[in-house]
Amino acid sequence: MAQRVGILTGGGDCPGLNAAIRGVVKAAAGLGWEVVGIRRGFEGLLPPHDTRALTLESTSEILTLGGTILGAASGGRFAAKTGHGEAGRLPAELIRETQQSIEKLGITALVAAGGDGTLSIAQQFFEAGTPVVAIPKTIDNDLQATVITFGFDSAVACATDALDRLQTTAGSHGRVFVLELMGRYAGWIAIHAGIAGGADVILIPEIPFRYEAIARQIEKLEKLGRNFALIAVAEGAREEGGEYAVKGPMRADKEAQLGGIGERVAAEIKKRCGKETRTVVLGHLQRGGGPTTFDRLLATRYGVAAVQMIAEKQFGMMAALRPPDIVAVPIKDAIGKIRTVPPDGNVVRTARALGISMGAASELA
Ligand code: F6P
Repeated sequence: MAQRVGILTGGGDCPGLNAAIRGVVKAAAGLGWEVVGIRRGFEGLLPPHDTRALTLESTSEILTLGGTILGAASGGRFAAKTGHGEAGRLPAELIRETQQSIEKLGITALVAAGGDGTLSIAQQFFEAGTPVVAIPKTIDNDLQATVITFGFDSAVACATDALDRLQTTAGSHGRVFVLELMGRYAGWIAIHAGIAGGADVILIPEIPFRYEAIARQIEKLEKLGRNFALIAVAEGAREEGGEYAVKGPMRADKEAQLGGIGERVAAEIKKRCGKETRTVVLGHLQRGGGPTTFDRLLATRYGVAAVQMIAEKQFGMMAALRPPDIVAVPIKDAIGKIRTVPPDGNVVRTARALGISMGAASELA
């Protein structure tokens, strides 16, 4: 049956979203289907409808483009629905109203590209009878049920480049540089970039740290004749028994904005080691700009897989990477609990074998 596919990108933008959109449009065109882009995530489905036709022509130069041509929602009726359980439940009325819009727009299947929040909404629409498939995106790489999300590789490349640059200036001045990285409550960006960029200390949310362990590592390096150090710290890292560093008050109805741990670590290291310290918060540079080759390919494969899933009526499913294949997994398996860095997993063991400090209490034994 010929389809009119609606596609939306939810949550924060990330490199690769446009490559995924293009993948959907091209694969759909191959089957003679139409594609409608829904602007500002699910919000664009609500009257007065914020949509645009997506054709081979209108998507022909977006493969390498960062951000999302469909725009990201800021605020609105769906934005308040973050979190899980009751906090994330959409009112039945809102679901009904949106489904009526979907029908009015003539959309026969919906592709939702997003992270945990967007996919939780997609799952609720699926449960209410909407034919939905999903594509996993987030620079944080914290979604369950897929080995990797697109956007992550681009963020890691940006963070690694920052460490490379900081190393030359840190070495010249004999300073300790603290690089604060994104990732929310998962330390994937920090640990991958930290290893690839030669960090001496990597602090991640999954391993609460002790300042003594960081200071000891810096003193050890000094004894070996190294006058500088690089510390990669995830925004969600915290001291043992300490609080997350957040900007503004914590709110039950809104995701906390993390930030500030880099400054805290730098101040404490200065105090304890007497070293000159500097902090760099890489922030949204990790989300901006075009996708890496890896992300372009992964996002394109996800886009094509989403269309194949619609053709096979595999609704309620998400495209997932299970190397070397892209497979369909239930959306509900990807949401509800974020995927974090296993503290005893290979990537942490690799860091430790390289002599990198994770700031852990066990290093003080
Ligand atoms: O989830 C992606 C992410 O970039 C996180 O790494 C970060 O904590 C958050 O979004 C920042 O959100 P915002 O763009 O709303 O400041």
